[in-house]
Amino acid sequence: MARVISNECIRQDIFVLRVEGKFEGKMGQFYMVRAWGKFPVLSRPLSIHDIGEDYIEFLYRVQGQGTSILSKLKPSDEISLEGPYGNGFPLVKGKIALVGGGIGIAPLYLTAKQLSENEDVDLLDIYMGFRNEAILKEKYEEFADNIYINVDGFITDEIDFKKYDYIFTCGPEIMMKKIVDMAKEYHTKVYVSIEKRMACGVGACLVCTCKTKSGNKRTCKDGPVFLGEDVVFDV
Ligand SMILES: Cc1cc2nc3c(=O)[nH]c(=O)nc-3n(C[C@H](O)[C@H](O)[C@H](O)COP(=O)(O)OP(=O)(O)OC[C@H]3O[C@@H](n4cnc5c(N)ncnc54)[C@H](O)[C@@H]3O)c2cc1C
Ligand code: FES
Repeated sequence: MARVISNECIRQDIFVLRVEGKFEGKMGQFYMVRAWGKFPVLSRPLSIHDIGEDYIEFLYRVQGQGTSILSKLKPSDEISLEGPYGNGFPLVKGKIALVGGGIGIAPLYLTAKQLSENEDVDLLDIYMGFRNEAILKEKYEEFADNIYINVDGFITDEIDFKKYDYIFTCGPEIMMKKIVDMAKEYHTKVYVSIEKRMACGVGACLVCTCKTKSGNKRTCKDGPVFLGEDVVFDV
């Protein structure tokens, strides 16, 4: 069990939860989170948003029962975190763009932080698309060479694909599929973070199946990050 440091509502249904302790984790990995007894039965997967020396942070949107319980947590309440799980984004060299749609921006903060510590990264641009209102622009700017925000349109319209060797993306499948399709024309490799319903989080139950060109994969264990061109999108 760990203790909540803070649980700040940054907009309507979006919260930043900071938990005390020394935690491990790489960009794109996630934890199975619970702050309740028997019900709901399953823990909920949340990506690592940030890690410091003595804390871990999650950026989450209230969706249903589990995240609604999380949203009521107060400082010094207890929480259980299991992880880090999954394969995150790869360490790569060159020019990189991170593209987040909505709450899909959550894993891209730690990703930007860890990539910015890598001397082999020549350019790190961040793109964030929102339906209503932009959030956390100033926070993400810290690690970005350039930051591009789109509200109520298509963030994909802003991307100059020929500038990048790699694009890492997380958000609605339709957005990620579009990025994979658009990047084909260039030599840009796209890595996508896939979101599926999860039960065990560790590869045992097969609830989180993701279709790929080489057969079904487990999003929790083989992903959540996959090479975009390998994924067979549901949209
Ligand atoms: C690897 C991974 C990382 C994620 N990271 C984040 C994050 O950083 N921030 C964030 O806001 N959300 C994230 N999500 C989505 C988050 O897990 C769901 O919003 C959350 O589980 C919903 O739970 P609930 O009890 O509030 O909703 P309910 O709808 O009551 O959940 C019922 C069941 O469905 C599952 N479920 C519902 N929606 C989703 C979903 N979209 N994805 C996966 N399982 C779902 C729940 O785990 C639970 O088993 C992530 C999902 C995955 C798979
Ligand atoms: S959630 Fe059980 S195998 Fe992925």
